[in-house]
Amino acid sequence: MKATVLAHPNIALVKYWGKRDDALILPHQSSLSLTLSPLSVTTTVEFGVPTDAVELNGHVAKGSERERVLRLLESVRAQAGDKSLGPAKVVSRGDFPMAAGLASSAAGFAALAVAGRAAAGLPRDTKAESILARLGSGSACRSVQGGFCEWQRGERPDGDDSFAVQRFDAAHWPELRMVVAILDRGEKDVKSRDGMKQAVETSPYYAAWVKDAEAEVPRAREHIARRDLQALGELCERNAWRMHSTSLAAEPPLCYLNAATVGLIHHLREHRKKGVPVWFTLDAGPNPVLLTDAANEVAAEALARACGALDVIRCVPGGDATLKSEHLF
Ligand code: DP6
Repeated sequence: MKATVLAHPNIALVKYWGKRDDALILPHQSSLSLTLSPLSVTTTVEFGVPTDAVELNGHVAKGSERERVLRLLESVRAQAGDKSLGPAKVVSRGDFPMAAGLASSAAGFAALAVAGRAAAGLPRDTKAESILARLGSGSACRSVQGGFCEWQRGERPDGDDSFAVQRFDAAHWPELRMVVAILDRGEKDVKSRDGMKQAVETSPYYAAWVKDAEAEVPRAREHIARRDLQALGELCERNAWRMHSTSLAAEPPLCYLNAATVGLIHHLREHRKKGVPVWFTLDAGPNPVLLTDAANEVAAEALARACGALDVIRCVPGGDATLKSEHLF
């Protein structure tokens, strides 16, 4: 049994930053994101091959990378209740640069979860797929569906109520634009997984971050419902600042911004004073993602390039993870 699935990455408008359970990947707070098109990852899963094999972006995966993929498929076997599925072959390829800092792992694990279940003969079920994707990488649970997805932190210790739900589909706000400004192509020093752990364990501001982020999710939902770009942009910026402030206060401090990031942020303010509606968000890396609308995406790109962007990727709201093919033998 074999299935191929395409999924898009997502950018968090209210970030996930910190786990209450490292093994099950349960977050301290809820988060909300937008799925990004045209960027995508395509993953094929085939059960019943002679030995397990994992190929990611043309390379044979090793160590923890391979283990994370195989562990997720172990959960698929448990869900299917079928030990006879046999070893699996996984081939996954993204169509965007890793350096974009857009966590291709989010799209990759979402595609893996959907393809894994389909290859095991299980029916489509966005809740089950989101929970599975979460076990690979937290943010991946928000890439199973398109548009605006909310990862509810949940309360249960087993994580069965910690998954993403779609609040609005991509068609709700087709004029919204996200412009990825690649200021630095280098690998980040501290991966999200380690950075958030450091913040949870050592930042004196961590409890305040959790309380604030949780309260921002329903506000973000309201701004999206009204398609209020200014209110959403302001919320996005302050949430990004608060995530980074929490991390800067960790021990040792975590600073994901570089000089070009700060320069671009200052320029954004100047642009806004001149009436250009553009705001930023920033994940655990130096490359900001600019939030604007279709009428201003060219101006946003020009601003990013003037501030030293080596590359710019313009994105629109993306759709659900989709099954490209399914072969049953
Ligand atoms: C800053 O989902 O990559 O992008 O769950 O440890 O795999 P793990 O982390 P990951 O972290 C994403 C952090 C973030 C914010 C976000 O996407 O919400």
